[in-house]
Amino acid sequence: MILDLQIDHDSEIPVYRQIAEAIRAAATAGRLESGGRLPPTRDLARQLGVNRNTVVAAYDLLASEGRVHSHTGRGTFLAERIEAADRSANDEDDEPWFTGFTPAVDAAALGGLQSIYRLVLSREGISFAGSYPAAEMIPIDAIRGAFDQVLRRIGSPVLGYGPTAGYPSLRETIARRMRDAGSTVDTGDLLVTNGAQQAVELVFRTFLDRGDAAVIEEPTYTGALSVLGSLGARPIAVPMDDDGMRPDLLEIALQRHRPRLIYLQPTFQNPTTRVMSEARRREILRVATRYRCPVVEDDWAGELRFEGPTLPTLHAIDGGRHVIYLSTFSKKLAPGLRVGWVCAPPVVLERLVELKRVEDCGTSLLLQAALDRFVRDGGLDEHLARIRPAYLERRDCMLRALRKYFPQGAEWTLPQGGLFLWLTLPSDVDGDALFDAARQNGVLYSRGDLFHSDGSGTQAMRLAYSAATPDEIESGIKTIGGLIERRGDRTEATGQETIDAMPIL
Ligand SMILES: Cc1ncc(COP(=O)(O)O)c(C=O)c1O
Repeated sequence: MILDLQIDHDSEIPVYRQIAEAIRAAATAGRLESGGRLPPTRDLARQLGVNRNTVVAAYDLLASEGRVHSHTGRGTFLAERIEAADRSANDEDDEPWFTGFTPAVDAAALGGLQSIYRLVLSREGISFAGSYPAAEMIPIDAIRGAFDQVLRRIGSPVLGYGPTAGYPSLRETIARRMRDAGSTVDTGDLLVTNGAQQAVELVFRTFLDRGDAAVIEEPTYTGALSVLGSLGARPIAVPMDDDGMRPDLLEIALQRHRPRLIYLQPTFQNPTTRVMSEARRREILRVATRYRCPVVEDDWAGELRFEGPTLPTLHAIDGGRHVIYLSTFSKKLAPGLRVGWVCAPPVVLERLVELKRVEDCGTSLLLQAALDRFVRDGGLDEHLARIRPAYLERRDCMLRALRKYFPQGAEWTLPQGGLFLWLTLPSDVDGDALFDAARQNGVLYSRGDLFHSDGSGTQAMRLAYSAATPDEIESGIKTIGGLIERRGDRTEATGQETIDAMPIL
């Protein structure tokens, strides 16, 4: 369709912007029909020999400018009257005004996180995609009560600026909970952040410059990959076995790449749900210590265990000397609070606080004070006691449905906690086509490539059971199983557009 589209791989201009510019130019010159359909992202990526995410980023850019519109299941279409709008703009000035963006906002590098909200907020059909807590179980009355109390009893001080490191009483509450879990920690070791995502971003930015290497598990949390992309850092993917990251391969990576940090999720790893054994935790720490490489422990779901013995965190084992620990209230309570935290040795924490001050001057004091009230009144422990068995039930419901509807050869994990399971499809199933077909049939999930640094993993899927009712789980898994059974029903066969935005949190 866009026959004269040439990519200059040596250009300073990122490839996705070259593609967007070529489409814009073709539309302006009348070579593309106003309102016409753009090629499916997969086809255009194949034609140009680029990653599909690059074409997705180009379409996203055009969509953000109002030049194209995406319609679920039908494809991406050029806006009507784009030519006229462009011509009149070009009469005045044919140079684009806003150029020279930094690599930090390079859409291709930001990957999965960039367009997540489009699909997440669409809330269409049955979704196993986002790793969300069950919305209907969030204790709204108790949270409202905590806000009321704080506003009545404390009043205006919680509506002012506060210490950037966080509301002191909440920091003490978090420190106490961490101590109860075996960590050595003082209130002053903690920084309250806007979710664990900000904690990841601040920590990575503190240690990583462009080109620096960071060891990650493969696959890993998409949000961490996006931060690495935005910083221009190099992910060094170290494979895992059933026990977690392989220490022998970690050692080789440390020797070869001299990374600035190791990012790990030892418990209920997102997306594989793996739990690193205690022996492995100790071994990984020994290797990291030998090479003096800081470890970043993302313990996003440690408190969501519904089966099996609790293991000490890396932070607890290490005594908080070289492990930077982070966690969040998003999954154990409510993601909309946007409250997480990071615990680090003083020399690191000081820097994190300064960076956080530059970013946003601190997390909302009102939110922190209300959350603290809620936790101190026992609300969080009560809530955890309610959601753990509920998630276990939903996990079992999903396992039953998978056994019933999925074919021989599909393999899935048996998570002992957390919000989702990880599944690998038989090799003769086209993971890409299945994802598209499932979406067209009203079922969403997160495709495995979102969690890989190299775009592989399309044969895997992350299925969240936490936010779906047992009926939805049964019906959604049945739909996907049926699609796998009828393997002829491929997206290629129907010529449908593929989806270009995916939820991943
Ligand atoms: C492993 C991991 N880390 C961090 C986060 C960020 O959580 P939030 O920013 O909502 O606290 C998530 C969210 O899905 C996650 O899965």
